[in-house]
Amino acid sequence: MKLFCVGCGPGDPDLVTLRAIELIKNTDIIFTPTAREGKPSIALSVVQKYIAKSTEIITLTFPMLKDFELLRDHWKKNTEKIVKAVISGKRVAYLTIGDPALYSTWIYIQRELEKTYPEIEIDIVPGITSFSAFAAKAKLSLAEGDQTVGIIPACYDLSKVKHAAESCDTLIFLKDGRYFDSVIEMLSDAGFKEDSIIAIAQDLSSDGEVMLLKKLEDLRKSKGTTQKYFSVMVARKRND
Ligand SMILES: C[S@@+](CC[C@H](N)C(=O)[O-])C[C@H]1O[C@@H](n2cnc3c(N)ncnc32)[C@H](O)[C@@H]1O
Repeated sequence: MKLFCVGCGPGDPDLVTLRAIELIKNTDIIFTPTAREGKPSIALSVVQKYIAKSTEIITLTFPMLKDFELLRDHWKKNTEKIVKAVISGKRVAYLTIGDPALYSTWIYIQRELEKTYPEIEIDIVPGITSFSAFAAKAKLSLAEGDQTVGIIPACYDLSKVKHAAESCDTLIFLKDGRYFDSVIEMLSDAGFKEDSIIAIAQDLSSDGEVMLLKKLEDLRKSKGTTQKYFSVMVARKRND
């Protein structure tokens, strides 16, 4: 009994690994996440063209809630659906955007499985992360030599964000561009100079992709730079 988790990359079907494509093509049942019932799954849309007509597709809802008990309920129910499919002897895969190890719904499934169904083998296919795709597109170096990098979700506690900002040379902000304005405000206090270059991308690897590179001082003047959940921001303390 085996379950595959497939990282589908940042959005461009050409940025899906060969291993992921091979697996997706030969899977009986595909589970794919969405944040709201009825909302199309982004991971599914990325790899749709590789899926055989005979493959059954099941969308699982993972609502964006902060109530842990409610969330656990969803994780358990979703895991049970996947387990039923795996036990039936079918080849089953779970899709996730980017890489499964980075802020993915996958980890909740994996933990439930490890706790309740340790007999189910897990096989994870890594994917290209949103920030790797962004760095390549914007021709950005994320780190060199002894430099440190912090990966920070922008939508939580700002003091935690500030602490990371003080101690890292490069900051990668994920999870919700609607919080980027307040993060930008805090960067000078955390040691970023006014001429530090900040790069922001929205809806990477899609038709609606937006990318911009600005100095910190200019960004502060233009509020509302991005209003999209699907946004990445990279801030470098040094411009060399
Ligand atoms: C739930 S996390 C998933 C991260 C993903 N596992 C990865 O490896 O990049 C969702 C966040 O990832 C970032 N993200 C993922 N794909 C993106 C894309 N195509 N364009 C911009 N941001 C993206 C955004 O910060 C978004 O809020």
